[in-house]
Amino acid sequence: MKNKDLNYYYNIARNMLEDFSNVCDGKPDYICTPEKFGATMGLGGAGQGKTFETNYNTLHKYRLRMQMIKAHHEPEMSISIFGKELTIPVMGASVSGVKLSLNDVISEEEFYWGLLKGARDSGCIAMVGNTPACPDDLGVTVIEKNDGWGIPIFKPHSQEWLVQLFQLAEELNVLAVGVDLDGVGSQFWNEKQLYRKSEKDIQELVDSTGKPVIFKGIMNVEDAVKVVDSGADACYVSNHGGRPMDCGQGVAEVLPDIAMEVSGKIPILADGAVRTGFDVLMVLALGADVALIGRPLALMSVAGGYNAVKLYFEYVKHDLRLAMIMTGCDNLKEATMDILSKGLLG
Ligand SMILES: Cc1cc2nc3c(=O)[nH]c(=O)nc-3n(C[C@H](O)[C@H](O)[C@H](O)COP(=O)(O)O)c2cc1C
Repeated sequence: MKNKDLNYYYNIARNMLEDFSNVCDGKPDYICTPEKFGATMGLGGAGQGKTFETNYNTLHKYRLRMQMIKAHHEPEMSISIFGKELTIPVMGASVSGVKLSLNDVISEEEFYWGLLKGARDSGCIAMVGNTPACPDDLGVTVIEKNDGWGIPIFKPHSQEWLVQLFQLAEELNVLAVGVDLDGVGSQFWNEKQLYRKSEKDIQELVDSTGKPVIFKGIMNVEDAVKVVDSGADACYVSNHGGRPMDCGQGVAEVLPDIAMEVSGKIPILADGAVRTGFDVLMVLALGADVALIGRPLALMSVAGGYNAVKLYFEYVKHDLRLAMIMTGCDNLKEATMDILSKGLLG
């Protein structure tokens, strides 16, 4: 029998979808790249895919600094967040839209299930998004089947509807709830279905639920301060993998300034071109408490369901441990800017 490693699942995904690069780095000619004119975006980014590519390039401007002479300790990688212990500071980013973005190869429910159960079996958490092709509460109902172990991130719908969705999520006892504020730029929804949110709106949403609230799509210090002031429980630094807006800044570019303002107040989550455990450590060093992974886990869920998602988390965990050993980090607190250099790229 063939060894079911990550390549095995990548090959299945490749047969189910169009060609894509394993690293999902925004390089041309793969599905992980610019929108093809007139066709759907697939796993790519808006416009010419520059924001997507910039996420990858700005993160990889940094280099990890090796530090070898130090007493040996097994790195402590676990964290506690939203009252739960995670084996590693990594989550599955909220993804959705098999019909619109992933060739309609499996059902949306199966897709969410693979992500949610795969993360849970790894001692981690996955988020799920929502798509116009399915009911807005589909993710919450799949999370319920996972004993509430998951986080729904809803689009910025009308306030009334969001409050109802938050209430449903609370009734079904999910771990936390959130809104992808940058989802307002989603290419798949019609005008007048999604809205930008004011400071008053986000405050109202926080006040509407007893669950921890996450605001996703924060890319500058001003917005981050507003998230903290709203009483939210986490600030999620993300540009949605470059999907709503092209020519934008990379996450690694803005994360240190946001961390300077928010660190120690509420947890900082961040995603954007995180592919390996080495990338995770860099994102933590730049100021995040949790790094999230989007496209690779989406491919794994499509190709092999929760087993493949679990394998990806194992891969990340393995390399995060190595990254910590090699940079002299005994625990996650030691993952600071001191373990990074800006490399030759300046
Ligand atoms: C196919 C696809 C669907 C996505 N759907 C959603 C969604 O429904 N809600 C959301 O908040 N973010 C969504 N995202 C953005 C991800 O949560 C995440 O921010 C992004 O993928 C991170 O970048 P990465 O893919 O480079 O890891 C989606 C991304 C992709 C690629």
